[in-house]
Amino acid sequence: MTARKILVTSALPYANGAIHLGHLVEYIQTDIWARFQKMRGHDCWYVCADDTHGTPIMLRAEKEGITPEALIRRVHGEHARDFAGFHVAFDNYYSTHSDETRHYANDIYTKLKAAGLIEVRAIEQFYDPVKQMFLPDRYIKGECPKCNAADQYGDACEACGAAYAPTDLKNPLSAVSGARPELKSSDHYFFKLSDPSCQDFLRRATREVCKAQPEAVNKLQEWLGEPGDNKLTDWDISRDAPYFGFEIPDAPGKYFYVWLDAPIGYMGSFQNLCKRQNLNFDEYWAKDSKAELYHFVGKDILYFHALFWPAELEHAGYRVPTSVFAHGFLTVDGAKMSKSRGTFITAESYLSVGLNPEWLRYYFAAKLNGSMEDIDLNLDDFVSRVNSDLVGKYINIASRAAGFIAKRFGGKLLHSHYIDQFRSDMPGLIEAAEEIAAHYEARDFGRAIRQVMALADQVNQYVDKNQPWVLAKTSEHEELLHYVCTVLINAFRLLTLYLKPILPKLAQRAEEFLNVAPLHWGDAGHLLPPAHPINPYEHLMTRIEAKQIEALLAANRESLAPTPTALPESHSQQRHAEHQQHAARQEVAASPWEPYVSIDDFSKIDLRIARIAEASHVEGADKLIKLTLDLGTETRQVFAGIKSAYDPATLVGRLTVVVANLAPRKMKFGMSEGMVLAASDPEGKTAGLFLLSPDSGAQPGMRVK
Ligand code: 2FM
Ligand code: ZN
Repeated sequence: MTARKILVTSALPYANGAIHLGHLVEYIQTDIWARFQKMRGHDCWYVCADDTHGTPIMLRAEKEGITPEALIRRVHGEHARDFAGFHVAFDNYYSTHSDETRHYANDIYTKLKAAGLIEVRAIEQFYDPVKQMFLPDRYIKGECPKCNAADQYGDACEACGAAYAPTDLKNPLSAVSGARPELKSSDHYFFKLSDPSCQDFLRRATREVCKAQPEAVNKLQEWLGEPGDNKLTDWDISRDAPYFGFEIPDAPGKYFYVWLDAPIGYMGSFQNLCKRQNLNFDEYWAKDSKAELYHFVGKDILYFHALFWPAELEHAGYRVPTSVFAHGFLTVDGAKMSKSRGTFITAESYLSVGLNPEWLRYYFAAKLNGSMEDIDLNLDDFVSRVNSDLVGKYINIASRAAGFIAKRFGGKLLHSHYIDQFRSDMPGLIEAAEEIAAHYEARDFGRAIRQVMALADQVNQYVDKNQPWVLAKTSEHEELLHYVCTVLINAFRLLTLYLKPILPKLAQRAEEFLNVAPLHWGDAGHLLPPAHPINPYEHLMTRIEAKQIEALLAANRESLAPTPTALPESHSQQRHAEHQQHAARQEVAASPWEPYVSIDDFSKIDLRIARIAEASHVEGADKLIKLTLDLGTETRQVFAGIKSAYDPATLVGRLTVVVANLAPRKMKFGMSEGMVLAASDPEGKTAGLFLLSPDSGAQPGMRVK
């Protein structure tokens, strides 16, 4: 086999907030894949870096009274610590604020410009006259132009879901100084993604880049449209001073904006690694490179990695990615991560309450299948699956055999050759190696785990059938006992090998116990030699206890949310999550039952029994069901956010309770004329939504008091 040259990256996290479990889905996934490739004997390099530039970082540093450089240094230390804590083994974890990244940003920009793909255009944007800076959308707040909800960000309304331009907001204010922003024009630099040369290239090439994921190919098709549709818009790649980033070489006061420096951080980090490891940069990045290049990213930044980034590389004379692997977001107990429920879980808190990082690696791996689907961390399932699979099925195999080998056989395995007998007693255990490898290669870690656990079941059946503890009672079965325990130790070694990309530290300790060199994939082809000495067994993994999960949720409920200036600017799960944190912050400010309402306040709410006459899905809405309600004397249309819990067909005919005098709201999908009531657990221990129903006999239109 010839060794492949493989360069792997994960998206660069903002140097602006803590690493949380949502981030870890990606880093753990990439790490498993890179470790697997290394075990196969390939030249695989895994690089990443902090994404250090942008307005949020500049403002946060200012607020803390430190320089942006000091802030990103500190955060780099925190991120590196958290990743190491979860055994994410980058070959290089660097920073975009580096000479190498600056070099390639300038180089790519200069080449794109020479290719006629950079254009300067004046655009009008909100400007903070007090702070004397242009305001990113997230730093403008005002009333929603659609539903008038107060205190909404400049890009989208949290109340009605409408998306708009900041200039559409009513009564806009700067979130930085509180001043009224003014419209001001300035020159911006654009990368001409709409240029026919880019469109033609993308139509030809990026299907290849996304081919591993049919859902991604569909997205791409949607974005590109048909030839002649001209759906791609030019991309603004500059921001005005004051800004923390790289100044554009021939444009004083203008700075490269995220997509012209963040992904270039992949190159910067790799170049830095090349210097240390004596690697040849061009072998991986030159146009004629034979190496493979893979980017693992969240589905929210697929657009940039599948369109913008390849077009940038192609027209600057570099190779394009072999594949972009997009993944979904993390939910916890079926819902978005939430500060008030304690499910916005930071990496640091997970480790500091004493949870084992490999439990999470295992659980995430079990849920990952190489698609863009969201994955759910169900906390009850997490506890039971880790305990039953890892401790109950896998670790137990070693602990059941090790004592006999130590006490009865001087710590040594059977003296005679036993591989043929092993193959017949443990059918498929050696032979599974290539199939399991194929699942890892396809990033279908869930499938790899299912296969390994099926093999572990087979080994446990072998234990139950041969009952070594019974064989040990008399000396007449000495030879058989020695053989059975030798089989078990070898089976444990093979299962360890198959799980090693997911459980690297556990595998390392198992290798010490087995007294073997670090396991590589090729080692699956042979067994331990006759009379091989093993070391005394020390317990390899404990069970998770429910109280540890309670402590984790409590730790995350307690910690304080970041300040608004910590909000990052672009689309990422971090941003989605922090968006929610912001809402949650307002929620936690009050004590549980205050302020009280008077009975007069309560009686202003007109609650009525309603019969659900019709219920249907709403196209383009993830959460909503459209209901037609019969209130006895009239019908109403209501959009209810209950799609996660109900199938519309099952709702028709049932009675529920509606707030009948709620002011009608214009939503993206039409008017909503009321609100149905549903219960949910604020603690998040029980997932789901439960629509209220009256006792039998209630009629549509009856008042509820
Ligand atoms: O969306 C994000 O998280 C940004 N920090 C960009 C990451 S990917 C990259 F660097 F290209
Ligand atoms: Zn709105």
